[in-house]
Amino acid sequence: MSLDIVDIIQRHRSIRKYKSNKVPDELLNKILQAGLRASSSGNMQSWSVVVTRDQNIRKTLFKPHFEQQMVLEAPVLMTFCSDFHRMRLWLKEKDAPDNFDNLMSFMIGAIDATLASQNIALAAESEGLGVCYMGTTLASCYEIAEILKLPHNVVPVVGYVLGYPNENPPLRDRLPLEGIVHYETYSDYPSKEILEIYKEREIKGWKRYMENSDFRELVEKHKVQNLAQIYTILKYTQESHKRYSQNILKCLVRQDFSNND
Ligand SMILES: Cc1cc2nc3c(=O)[nH]c(=O)nc-3n(C[C@H](O)[C@H](O)[C@H](O)COP(=O)(O)O)c2cc1C
Repeated sequence: MSLDIVDIIQRHRSIRKYKSNKVPDELLNKILQAGLRASSSGNMQSWSVVVTRDQNIRKTLFKPHFEQQMVLEAPVLMTFCSDFHRMRLWLKEKDAPDNFDNLMSFMIGAIDATLASQNIALAAESEGLGVCYMGTTLASCYEIAEILKLPHNVVPVVGYVLGYPNENPPLRDRLPLEGIVHYETYSDYPSKEILEIYKEREIKGWKRYMENSDFRELVEKHKVQNLAQIYTILKYTQESHKRYSQNILKCLVRQDFSNND
């Protein structure tokens, strides 16, 4: 049965449990080719991907990925990077000025990398593989860049594990289209409307977290009362987000993307 692209998109679920089967090289190459076809700023293709299959390297990446079990379990880990290293080497060879050591360049590469990553994810899903993105790629970019031996002008921005699914989770809810789309100009939300937009999320999200015994314990311990509080008291705290932000800034300086004055 062949699925069209919209079916593949609509059936997407993050996969966190994997079979041990390896992904054949030919299949891996096929899905990686889909990344090359992504739109890219100036067609500079200012991204790269590190495909990590080696179990020892994945063990080293386990900690910076906050000990997420799927890093060890899935046969492939993909780290997509904003990458102006290659382009800058070429510029040097051709005696062309180099303007790519700043925040704008990092962002161009980060967008290219993200677009390519999603092309590859969809190609993978169309082949019966599963993926789960990991925000820890960006949060720990400084440490991950070191482990993957990334040169100057290469910064990890987005990553996922990939392999054959060993679970079949239900589709997760999404906010309704009216909550996301604005026509012509942005129309701000009255507070009643905000509650309506998040109505289903509040019920389903809360239920999902309550089914997880670790989260249930944390909810009780911190006297958390609703899903919104789960997001910012337990998951994405002021302290953690400041810490990750500092790590990203430190990484941009070390990897030579900070010439902004
Ligand atoms: C940039 C990004 C980072 C994510 N980081 C993690 C992560 O670190 N661990 C995890 O289990 N899921 C992670 N996810 C998966 C999301 O939790 C998931 O996409 C979301 O809950 C919706 O579920 P679905 O993908 O199954 O539809 C991430 C997703 C994105 C796009």
